[in-house]
Amino acid sequence: MATSSSLNAIKHITVVGGGLMGSGIAQVAAQSGNRVTLVDISPDVLKKSQDSIQKSLGRVAKKLYKDNPTEGEKLVKTALASIEVSTDLQAAVKTTDLVIEAIVENLEAKHKLFASIDDVAPASTIFASNTSSLSIGEIASVTKRKDRFGGLHFFNPVPVMKLLEVIRIPETSDETYNTLMEWGKAIGKTCITCKDTPGFVVNRLLVPYMSEAVRLLERGDASARDIDIAMKLGAGYPMGPIELADYVGHDTTKSILDGWHKKFPDNPVFKPTETLNKLVKEENWVLKQEKDSISITSS
Ligand code: 3HC
Repeated sequence: MATSSSLNAIKHITVVGGGLMGSGIAQVAAQSGNRVTLVDISPDVLKKSQDSIQKSLGRVAKKLYKDNPTEGEKLVKTALASIEVSTDLQAAVKTTDLVIEAIVENLEAKHKLFASIDDVAPASTIFASNTSSLSIGEIASVTKRKDRFGGLHFFNPVPVMKLLEVIRIPETSDETYNTLMEWGKAIGKTCITCKDTPGFVVNRLLVPYMSEAVRLLERGDASARDIDIAMKLGAGYPMGPIELADYVGHDTTKSILDGWHKKFPDNPVFKPTETLNKLVKEENWVLKQEKDSISITSS
């Protein structure tokens, strides 16, 4: 059971990382009445986040208030007004109840981030990571607040997917865990609990599933179209595994697999696939060309 103090504990949250996941987390928290500061090092990323949050809120409002557009507009306006953006992480965490990190999947970068705010945030502030595949315990190891540290793993698209995985490490206090579970419920998610194991529940099953589908394709057993149709119509998935790997991002899927393969080289399920490696290489090449052409045209 949550204590009454923990039930009221989370009023202001700081989300670090203005990408797809960070923006989605900021949105659902603001929709549920939290004040939110969304932090990123890039003002351009923050501008894009605000635009995508506004668009997504419009979709939510349309769905919730089909017959009452005025109420829908009010929801969008109120939620947007609850989100401020900032490039100053230290200032943002000074008065925050919960920090959720949703930056790049790199342990060093996450260490740097949490180490830089551990002495600045109030002692009562809970730290959480939205990591897809890294160990929460390893991320928390650079802080002096492991009892106020946990994992909050959201799913893409955050405003639509109803699940929140709450991960506790052995040091996470009952109060912190209860507060995270209550907060997850308050923002409209169904929470499940998982130990600090690779991929927690969903990604531990979903990532090997997607890479097995890619291996099936590599062997020429079936076409991408047929694999996707098979899993949609035969197993009731909303997307097929090939489409899902693309939706999640080939780079994300590859980085998860690579990380696990490095840590657990003997587990065949985590073996990288040639096709994913090739796709990411090609996508990076295209991105680089786009970047180069932008810097040429803007100079
Ligand atoms: N914001 C707000 N609403 C959104 C939205 C967004 N970003 N994206 C979709 N929606 C809403 C739409 O408005 C629509 O609402 P309606 O029912 O009132 O019309 C509803 O969601 C369905 O959207 P669409 O009609 O556009 O499309 P689909 O019916 O094809 O659904 C989907 C899209 C919800 C993405 C569905 O295909 C799906 O569930 N796919 C699987 C997603 C999944 O598995 N995600 C988990 C990935 S793993 C992960 O995130 C973990 C990470 O660590 C890697």
